[in-house]
Amino acid sequence: MDPQSLIAGGTVHYWEERARRFAASGAGLAAVCSFGMPLFYNRAIDLSQRLALRPWLGVQRGTRVLDAGCGVGRWSLLLAARGAAVTGIDHSAIMIAEARRRARIAGLRGSCRFLVQDLAALDTGDRYDLVLSVTVLQHILETGALRAALRRMAAHLAADGRLVLLEAAPDRAISRCDSAIFRARARSSYLRLFAECGLELHALSGVDPAPFRTWLLPHLPRLPRGLRLAALAAVTAASLPVDVPFGRSLVGRSWHAVFVLGHAGRRNAQ
Ligand SMILES: C[S@@+](CC[C@H](N)C(=O)[O-])C[C@H]1O[C@@H](n2cnc3c(N)ncnc32)[C@H](O)[C@@H]1O
Repeated sequence: MDPQSLIAGGTVHYWEERARRFAASGAGLAAVCSFGMPLFYNRAIDLSQRLALRPWLGVQRGTRVLDAGCGVGRWSLLLAARGAAVTGIDHSAIMIAEARRRARIAGLRGSCRFLVQDLAALDTGDRYDLVLSVTVLQHILETGALRAALRRMAAHLAADGRLVLLEAAPDRAISRCDSAIFRARARSSYLRLFAECGLELHALSGVDPAPFRTWLLPHLPRLPRGLRLAALAAVTAASLPVDVPFGRSLVGRSWHAVFVLGHAGRRNAQ
């Protein structure tokens, strides 16, 4: 469970290792949701993300979508199945190989392409109606790389396009869950960065306002193994009745946030 032990070769190495171990199994959640957690826990995360993103994932046949940091294609395949023309990029070649395999099995190869690229140097040669990035920026720790990633995503957004980001972004910076591959930056620091990158906020909503998971996680490694599973089951069960009905509306209490952005000044021009 310790990301530090996987980080020696850099963050790509960390994601490659996760993908190598977990990407092909089941829904691929172990490769992209919380590392080392039981399936029920990752399924609950998947559910709260789907509910939070639902208003923003309406696509039509041919809508051009960029899934930035696509992992094994959790969102790419969903949107391609709805008719979108999807490009997924990820810096992990193993994640991308697995995304291609899943697209082939789902019969969606014709509507998806997957490229190995780093977000900080993103260049797909196209512009997109929807640029989606789910829990990726929270893993880019270096501020210069984070700014470059946002600028590159903005550069790939069509003039009236929508950029949708789901990231750990609590009300204030909270370091207790930070690790060698994760940063919970304050929501306000993301908002400043968006403005610097020529992006304007159109909507902001929450994902997971129940605090129980983030209370438990820093203490989890010290618990005996049997108790660990019971504690995870208890916080998952306690979180669902809060996160499912209130996730989107309680943004002030939410650990993650959904940011919906467009090019600055475009809204008034429409
Ligand atoms: C938590 S996973 C999320 C994957 C996918 N967005 C999803 O929700 O299923 C984070 C993904 O971001 C990718 N990633 C992290 N930093 C990246 C970077 N600088 N450039 C491209 N991909 C990156 C990782 O390889 C990993 O697949």
